[in-house]
Amino acid sequence: MSNNLVIALSKGRILKETLPLLKSAGIEPLEDVSSSRKLIFDTTLDHIKIIVIRATDVPAYVQYGGADMGVTGKDVLMEHGADGLYEPLDLNIAKCKLMTAAKKGYQSPEGRLKVATKFVNLAKNYYASQGIQTDIIKLYGAMELAPILGLADEIVDIVDTGNTLRANGLEPREEIHHISTRLVVNRASMKMKHAQIQPIIEQLEKATRA
Ligand code: ATP
Ligand code: PRP
Repeated sequence: MSNNLVIALSKGRILKETLPLLKSAGIEPLEDVSSSRKLIFDTTLDHIKIIVIRATDVPAYVQYGGADMGVTGKDVLMEHGADGLYEPLDLNIAKCKLMTAAKKGYQSPEGRLKVATKFVNLAKNYYASQGIQTDIIKLYGAMELAPILGLADEIVDIVDTGNTLRANGLEPREEIHHISTRLVVNRASMKMKHAQIQPIIEQLEKATRA
């Protein structure tokens, strides 16, 4: 194993909040990651490269060792399953909740429930834990439309301010999990590259507390 380190960052809303934390750990990409079409970036530290990928792809890159470390949401990690991943640090950014929601005042049926979500595994587990049978419809975004158009009784989605639900005539129902952004590390890298990885974790922890 080489001494080079690859860190996988989630593009989208987490990226802007992640870069200042990395900067505090002395790691800065050498060009603007938001505007570049490149996917892999050199940094101020010669042996560290950053890749910028979809949040949902971060667990796979870290699990299979394409990246040594990664940054993504707890929702994404729980949905993916955390095999082969250490999760040493809560970065305390992009805090939100995973919730069920339905049309305002809607009485969900007693029997099987139609649920639209991109969090298929989390939704299945949650409703099963409540003793509720479900038909899950996998969507990739704009889940809020599903109850309005009769596709689903309920959705499972991220809620922060609640504005998206309100704007679409929905209301939050049950809270499933508190969510925030986590640092994850490949298990083999954690052993083999401990000397490089541990100081980064410590610097990020300091930056997160500051
Ligand atoms: P993709 O578009 O790649 O499928 P995504 O739309 O889930 O992924 P983002 O919207 O950038 O990607 O969200 C990344 C992470 O930010 C989510 O996994 C979640 O942890 C968190 N998040 C999502 N929505 C919010 C929100 N409204 N407020 C705070 N945090 C959020
Ligand atoms: C997320 C989530 C909700 C919204 C919740 O969507 O899927 O739609 O944020 O935030 P709020 O409670 O503050 O309104 P995002 O903006 O990431 O768009 P997406 O549909 O592309 O995931």
